Amino acid sequence: MELIEGLKTRRTIRSFNDKEIDIKVVEKIIDATRFQPTWKNTQIVRFYFTNDNKKINEISENIGHDWNKNIIKNAKGVMVLAYKTNISGYEKDKTPSTTKGSHFESFDTGVMAEGFVLSCFNYGIGTVIMGIFDENRLKKVIGVKDDEAIACVIPMGYYDELPSPPKKKEVSELLNIVK
Ligand SMILES: Cc1cc2nc3c(=O)[nH]c(=O)nc-3n(C[C@H](O)[C@H](O)[C@H](O)COP(=O)(O)O)c2cc1C
Repeated sequence: MELIEGLKTRRTIRSFNDKEIDIKVVEKIIDATRFQPTWKNTQIVRFYFTNDNKKINEISENIGHDWNKNIIKNAKGVMVLAYKTNISGYEKDKTPSTTKGSHFESFDTGVMAEGFVLSCFNYGIGTVIMGIFDENRLKKVIGVKDDEAIACVIPMGYYDELPSPPKKKEVSELLNIVK
């Protein structure tokens, strides 16, 4: 898929068809995603994936948000993006490198998440990035390590059709030319 076309046509997908997600495809997706930029190339993001229906159901039951629970219930896979804390945005002695403190941990994971959803789209897999979840419950269900935090949850699945895009702001509303 051509890059600009992919950037413009990817949509958030919230309903999925019955086709299963093969782990081999997920490995290809992560193989592309891992090349995204990160703070000083620290590569703090870790990916937790399941295509096990029982586990997907358990994630759904513990997400702690009804809207998201119903979406996950119908997903064919769930990818959880976690990150190692106190590395991105920090010096080696753990002092913050900028006034923004832990900001770059989420920033790095966001960059990685975009690479991930675009890679999924390239392979015909729909995704929805979720920012609302019960982190404590989810950490236990997924088995996320003690020195990691969860940035987002991404239900996945093949889809029958792409929804039409929600209204996006025009270039003139977004771009400020500075002289
Ligand atoms: C950081 C972030 C958090 C989001 N959280 C949720 C969520 O919890 N549940 C949900 O259904 N969609 C969530 N979304 C998806 C947005 O609603 C969606 O991207 C937006 O409506 C634009 O649609 P589009 O992705 O098709 O352009 C989230 C997206 C982002 C980037």
